[in-house]
Amino acid sequence: MTDKKHTHIAVFYYTQTGQLLDILKSLTTPLEGMGCRITYKEIVPEEPFPFPWTSDQFYEIFPESRAEVPFKLREMDFSDVLDADLVILGYQPWYLAPSVPVSSFLRLETTGSYLNGRNVLAVAGTRNMWVSAIKSIQARLRQHKANLVGHIALEDRHQNLVSVLTIFRWLINNKKEAGKYLPEAGVSECDIKSVAAISQDLFNALSGGDFSQLQKAIVEKGGIRFNPGLYFIESNGNKIWGKWAHWVLKKGKYGDPARKNRLLLFKYYLLTLIFGISPFGSLFFTLTWPLRKKSYRKIEKNILFLQN
Ligand SMILES: Cc1cc2nc3c(=O)[nH]c(=O)nc-3n(C[C@H](O)[C@H](O)[C@H](O)COP(=O)(O)O)c2cc1C
Repeated sequence: MTDKKHTHIAVFYYTQTGQLLDILKSLTTPLEGMGCRITYKEIVPEEPFPFPWTSDQFYEIFPESRAEVPFKLREMDFSDVLDADLVILGYQPWYLAPSVPVSSFLRLETTGSYLNGRNVLAVAGTRNMWVSAIKSIQARLRQHKANLVGHIALEDRHQNLVSVLTIFRWLINNKKEAGKYLPEAGVSECDIKSVAAISQDLFNALSGGDFSQLQKAIVEKGGIRFNPGLYFIESNGNKIWGKWAHWVLKKGKYGDPARKNRLLLFKYYLLTLIFGISPFGSLFFTLTWPLRKKSYRKIEKNILFLQN
């Protein structure tokens, strides 16, 4: 049991646009009103990643993202969060894996020692493909003997190809707002605000020392949704991307000009996959849905309820 007055939550996060911080604040602000103390701890790469990205920079980070190659981070001081009752880990997927700053943070020995034995709630702000990333985070937390007690994943709910266009426009041209033909990029304001509905459930779990009903509440309140069609695309893409990442890495490290041609090939492959092949993949998935329905119900339950 934790005393209400002393409930302390440590929030670790990295964000380029501030979207993830908005989501985290929407969740934690009501908790402050309930008497919790919140300490935000930003994960800061030693060499900042660009924002907005140029097209070349955006593809350059693909192999390191997918293969989870660690980058140097500014040293994290854990001394002010040693008494935390809960850790919230804010993350975003990059190329279907946890973003490089987050995966680098999770690989550090100091992070592992800090997380050992702690309860962790993962919170993501994504385009719409986060399953492989949370699986990787879950595995890493398990290694550190930390307990993943909940997972919130907000996404852009526009049609998949529309959100590809809007996220490129946002990340590369820094245009988040709606255009003549495209909607606003990112997680909607309404979804960000509605995360606050989960705060009371989180508070109840914390004050009762029982997290067993938390994920159920997150699912019921729309804090995470499973889309079978997107999962089909992601799970197939993830396997092939792993091979691509290692193939590029064989040519050189991050920024090495020797990998330029392989990255260029990946870029064309990715664009063909997204705009040329994935619509047929989705059609194939829809046609074969009756055959998959039963197995997908199981997958859905495993993913939403963090059963692996
Ligand atoms: C290099 C890169 C790769 C990304 N890959 C994915 C992805 O695989 N799946 C996804 O849902 N979103 C992806 N995104 C979107 C991010 O997860 C995130 O929603 C967006 O970058 C805003 O995050 P932030 O401002 O909190 O850093 C990617 C973004 C970047 C910069």
